[in-house]
Amino acid sequence: MRTRTLAHLSDLHLGRSPETDRAAVRLRDLVEDAFDHVVVSGDVTHRGRREELARFEELFGAMQRAGRLSVVPGNHDRLGEDVGARLMRGGRVEAHTHDGLYLVRVDSTGPHNKFLLAGHGQICADVIDEIELALAGAPRRHLTVLTLHHHPLPLPEETFGEFVSATLGWPNAAELRLGARLLERIGGRCDLVLHGHRHVPSAMACDAGGRRPLAVYNAGSSTTLGRFRVFTHLDGALCGPPVWLDTQDVPALELAGTGTE
Ligand SMILES: [Fe+2]
Ligand SMILES: [Fe+2]
Repeated sequence: MRTRTLAHLSDLHLGRSPETDRAAVRLRDLVEDAFDHVVVSGDVTHRGRREELARFEELFGAMQRAGRLSVVPGNHDRLGEDVGARLMRGGRVEAHTHDGLYLVRVDSTGPHNKFLLAGHGQICADVIDEIELALAGAPRRHLTVLTLHHHPLPLPEETFGEFVSATLGWPNAAELRLGARLLERIGGRCDLVLHGHRHVPSAMACDAGGRRPLAVYNAGSSTTLGRFRVFTHLDGALCGPPVWLDTQDVPALELAGTGTE
């Protein structure tokens, strides 16, 4: 059995600026033939516009149709024309097997996300039950990964707005209210939680209590960073920590003719 690779992108924010869209092209060019699977954990659009979603589909649609890319919605995708349902059509929890990978996608957004200042995520006890059920169906010897947009654990405030929100006790900068419970419930059945939302990357190992280790990774904003993590796995287990891949390291010649205007 050969090793498989999984790339984690997040928070592309297509439509934010020409630079952002150019960065997304560089990411696409780097991932399209290089990895077995790619996860994009939400905020693929900046204002939830259909034209921004069309740009995402233009860049990543072929990989999606080939079953090599999976996406979940983020709060920005619920703004404007609300394209969230077009990113995940089958409900709040969906699970699929992809060649050595068992991926559970979770929609952590809600209708409140139509307001930019209410960007926080929400999952309820029923969704956690659904996730648990999905994980119970994980095939043996598959890397088991849960992806959602919002962070399940507290993270430091990164912007002045987040600092103000946290100080005032508003929910929009906070972790998922049931995030800790979610991690408790999936412990021992899942290897990775991949999320975004906060634009500064982070990584945390959960106390597995001697069970199967669980790690939580925030990709940050891949278009802003110009880099993303790649996980390698074999026979259902990670082959060490992930590595960062930087789009700046790819020779310019390989990217010739791919810029956007
Ligand atoms: Fe974002
Ligand atoms: Fe977000």
